[in-house]
Amino acid sequence: MSPVSIGISDRAHDAFDNLAKQECRERNLLAVVQQAHSLWDEDGRLRCGWAELMGETGVKTLELLEREGVLSTGGFVGIDRDAARVERLRVEHPLRSWIAGDLLDSLRSPELENVGVINFDAYDMVGTASLMMTVRLLKTITRRSVERFGAAVIFVNADLDAVRRRGLACSHALRTHAEQLARTLVDDGDRRRRLAATDLLPEGAEASVDDPAFLGQVGGVEIYRGKPGGHRMANLRVILR
Ligand SMILES: C[S@@+](CC[C@H](N)C(=O)[O-])C[C@H]1O[C@@H](n2cnc3c(N)ncnc32)[C@H](O)[C@@H]1O
Repeated sequence: MSPVSIGISDRAHDAFDNLAKQECRERNLLAVVQQAHSLWDEDGRLRCGWAELMGETGVKTLELLEREGVLSTGGFVGIDRDAARVERLRVEHPLRSWIAGDLLDSLRSPELENVGVINFDAYDMVGTASLMMTVRLLKTITRRSVERFGAAVIFVNADLDAVRRRGLACSHALRTHAEQLARTLVDDGDRRRRLAATDLLPEGAEASVDDPAFLGQVGGVEIYRGKPGGHRMANLRVILR
């Protein structure tokens, strides 16, 4: 977790094992089903791999994907910097692929070669430069998937209310975040691939985003609260073609 979380965000505490987070995982899968058709084979399995930042609870995504029968063998890659956690998961789920270390140091590893869906829920604050830098690096994966499978999906899950705790407007930060994501993920001059920031965050969403009680979907963004009284998170679902 980044040092800015101290005193500003509650995301260091485990807010990931609850109904809201589980529904968010389910809607992630639904977005891939409904919006990235070319990633699926005719038997209803993903042709590409799914990469997940694990933490303590990423296994809930794995269990969901296994329950729904959408993974091919080796089609899930779990990543975490905590080597002991990864070794435990490797023993528990030997058919899956595991990376112990920083995702950004492993972009060219063979485990990630087939990945077309990335759940990047590191819980950075919305709109930080370091998050955008990370997303820029993840283009190694998304670009390859678009070329190979005709699409790529990236979920960027970030802490929205950490912005408010700093005395800044959530809507302004989220708008900047959406604009930067759209700009970062689509290569300049690539006319085939269009992604408008307003596809992610529609115009007029400001009042909802700034309302501390608002939870729900605005465009390609799901705003949810991981636990009662906890921070609202903004999960941007980006579909690239
Ligand atoms: C919020 S948790 C993941 C939650 C999980 N996906 C779920 O559905 O419950 C994020 C985890 O990813 C790890 N992490 C964050 N950035 C990472 C990176 N660049 N490479 C590897 N692990 C990272 C964090 O240390 C943490 O354990």
